[in-house]
Amino acid sequence: MQNRTLGREGLAVSAIGYGAMGTTFAYGPGDDTASIAASRHAHDLGVTHFDTAELYGWGTGERLLGSALAPIRDEVTIATKFGFTPDAYAPNSQLDHIRQVVDASLRNLGTDSIDLLYQHVHDPEVPVEDVVGVMQEFVQAGKVRWLGLSNTDAENIRRAHAVHPISVLQTEYSVFARQSEDLFGVVDELGIGLVAYSPLARGFLSGAVQPRSAYAEDDIRQWLEWWAPENWDANTAVVAGLTELASEKGISLSQLVLAWILAQREDIVPIPGSRSAGRVAENVAAAAVTLAPDELARIDTLSRGVRGARATS
Ligand SMILES: NC(=O)c1ccc[n+]([C@@H]2O[C@H](COP(=O)([O-])OP(=O)(O)OC[C@H]3O[C@@H](n4cnc5c(N)ncnc54)[C@H](OP(=O)(O)O)[C@@H]3O)[C@@H](O)[C@H]2O)c1
Repeated sequence: MQNRTLGREGLAVSAIGYGAMGTTFAYGPGDDTASIAASRHAHDLGVTHFDTAELYGWGTGERLLGSALAPIRDEVTIATKFGFTPDAYAPNSQLDHIRQVVDASLRNLGTDSIDLLYQHVHDPEVPVEDVVGVMQEFVQAGKVRWLGLSNTDAENIRRAHAVHPISVLQTEYSVFARQSEDLFGVVDELGIGLVAYSPLARGFLSGAVQPRSAYAEDDIRQWLEWWAPENWDANTAVVAGLTELASEKGISLSQLVLAWILAQREDIVPIPGSRSAGRVAENVAAAAVTLAPDELARIDTLSRGVRGARATS
């Protein structure tokens, strides 16, 4: 698979990465053995960038991913994130909290150095300059290589970047969630790369979407507006239109929508998540798909029919 360069500080990763959130969080119970096999299969197929966070099981997700990647640690880049507190999942970027969480992430991942460290979500209580100052301490100590931000706005990106170069903005981006296009101007100006999270719209664009009733009670999709009964018909009609185009091309829906993301910018890397080696293989194959201008235009038109806001993080 081809590499893409994120930011101006030299971070080069495979064009499609692997998102490990679902292995321990958000989409119902996972199977650790299958999840380890899925992430290792991603690597076998050329994926070199793996994404996790403290939030994904409060260390459980980092430990699972760290153990899966231990034998190939030198061949991959690992990203993790700090910035929440277990109580009510509220933002917490208090400076001492960051120091504790990042030290714990290093232990959980079983690594001497985190390749890419993100602030997971903006914390209105803590100036972003102070947050990046603490992140920079870890860079200076050789414990973190590149810095990123997630779930933030243009002003905070500028203020953070003035303290230390930000290599990546991780933001939700998919055919269903295009609001992040408002941030393309600032990342272009500052030379920051993009990592597109939830690129399959949390599974709505996976080819296997189900109504809410099919998911576990604590599955995040119980609360996402795309699944609300009043939006269901409009959104499944968009999926039907996209699926028709995918079948005309002889590819799957997930491949179509991942290829659409890759076609938007040269410095964007989607990180689809799956706990199945077979579904990982399906998604990774999107790196070889090219879309003609008329196909991109068809997808653009269809995307205008999506109803319901994306989640906020
Ligand atoms: N920065 C943030 O705030 C933030 C927020 C959300 C996510 N993220 C990151 O982005 C990554 C990806 O996002 P995501 O996991 O929310 O959503 P996603 O990649 O848009 O979709 C994941 C869902 O789609 C299913 N799926 C994936 N490929 C499939 C295929 N080929 N066929 C059928 N079903 C398929 C998965 O189920 P199975 O596992 O059962 O295959 C899972 O339920 C996360 O893992 C995380 O690393 C970051």
